[in-house]
Amino acid sequence: MAAAGGLHTYQLRLHAEYGPVVRFQLPGVEWAVSVADPVLLEATARLDERPDPLFAFLDPLCEAGNIQVMPAAEHAPWRRLLLSVLAGRPSHERHFARFTALTTELADRWAERAERADREPVGLQKDLTALSLRMICAYALGGEVADPDGVIAAFEEVLTEHLGRLYETPGSDAQEGRAERAVQALAHLRATVDQVVTAHRATDRTGDTDRTGTARTGTARTGTARTDKSDLIGALVAAGERPARIRDTVMMTMLAAHHTTGVAVSWTLYLLGRHPEVAERVADELDRVLGDRAAPDYADLRRLTYLEMTLKEAMRLYPPGPYGARETVEPLRLGDHLIPAGATIFYPIWAVHMNPDYWPQPEKFLPERFAPDEVARRPRLAHIPFGFGPRSCEGAGLAMVEAELVLAVLLKRFRFRPAPGHQVTPIERFVLWAADDIRMNVSRRRPG
Ligand code: HEM
Repeated sequence: MAAAGGLHTYQLRLHAEYGPVVRFQLPGVEWAVSVADPVLLEATARLDERPDPLFAFLDPLCEAGNIQVMPAAEHAPWRRLLLSVLAGRPSHERHFARFTALTTELADRWAERAERADREPVGLQKDLTALSLRMICAYALGGEVADPDGVIAAFEEVLTEHLGRLYETPGSDAQEGRAERAVQALAHLRATVDQVVTAHRATDRTGDTDRTGTARTGTARTGTARTDKSDLIGALVAAGERPARIRDTVMMTMLAAHHTTGVAVSWTLYLLGRHPEVAERVADELDRVLGDRAAPDYADLRRLTYLEMTLKEAMRLYPPGPYGARETVEPLRLGDHLIPAGATIFYPIWAVHMNPDYWPQPEKFLPERFAPDEVARRPRLAHIPFGFGPRSCEGAGLAMVEAELVLAVLLKRFRFRPAPGHQVTPIERFVLWAADDIRMNVSRRRPG
């Protein structure tokens, strides 16, 4: 597996060599089965448990039990609650202006850089994962947080430690002192969530809060509800979730949201930089829909159909989450195979997306594959960047809004071209990451 470059690339090889259903050896797992056929995958679509050991690395981030492996009965109401916020148009719309402002700040910085004679290529992944962290932080915590930069720094500290442990050799120099800093950072994050929760409870009583989250007790209700409150925390508080579960949910949402969305946008720009003819079509659509405006309104997104097709095709070729996993609780028939209870079933998302039976010339970048009639011809589970079934990504709708907005703003203003001599190598680092970033030359474009 290590020789193949990781589990995600190993799965590509397994399926190329042995077909759509493969049992393979994985330390500590008696039955590990990978299924790369979208029709056969339907038989697994109701599986509602995840295998604990694969997600144990997240245990230290959760106080009330690891959310990723919550038992099905506890997971279902939590999921409903999350979806009621994350999948809802009102919540997306309310945060859209803030998301646009954050994206525009980055675009302005890139524009300044593009003017300089000695300009260096931009590291897309670094800048865009930082942007999506800012966005999800603004979304998950709302405007109540006094020091968003401190929260972001703390979150990065926690991630470096916990994801670092997964991929570094134990005892490496990088780990020195980091564990202690991560403990403090995690405590800071949890205290910040608590402050937001307190502010929400106070709001429930008084109807309003000031910018720092301190309740304006005694003030008369003005009737003007704040627009930058955290919908997520608001819903969790209103549902009576206990504080530890609220803290865990915010942590897990931020974790699940920021690398994934950042790399989805980075890989899309990478592909567009290598396919100027597709980039041209996207830019034409943006000029047509936006006219002179530098950023879309929320309602414009549904008119950016070719942009959306391009993003979907990029997530097919470079799925931000390259695999998922479930556990069987009873025997499961999969075509000609009978899988016992207690088996780990892998969703090899990358291998599913590269399955030549459903994706002719799978390595080619062809957004037209996502024209509605083409989609209708393929099985439902041929394209699963957000997973599927009762444990699929609750943030899929929000992620699409964020990614389309960022792409629209950046592609309206800039042209991207690969930095000569820079090698882009996908590796798994929790998400499908580029080993040495994706460096691109960014120049201003003149609208056609
Ligand atoms: C392009 C961006 C994203 C991609 C590609 C992505 C992909 C995924 C995948 C593949 C899974 C596992 C699904 C499965 O096991 O079937 C997942 C889980 C999850 N994602 Fe996302 N995600 C993205 C963005 C987001 C965002 C923005 C949020 C929240 C705001 C989010 C929240 C979650 C949560 C909470 C889970 C755990 C689901 C559960 O156990 O019920 N994700 N995501």
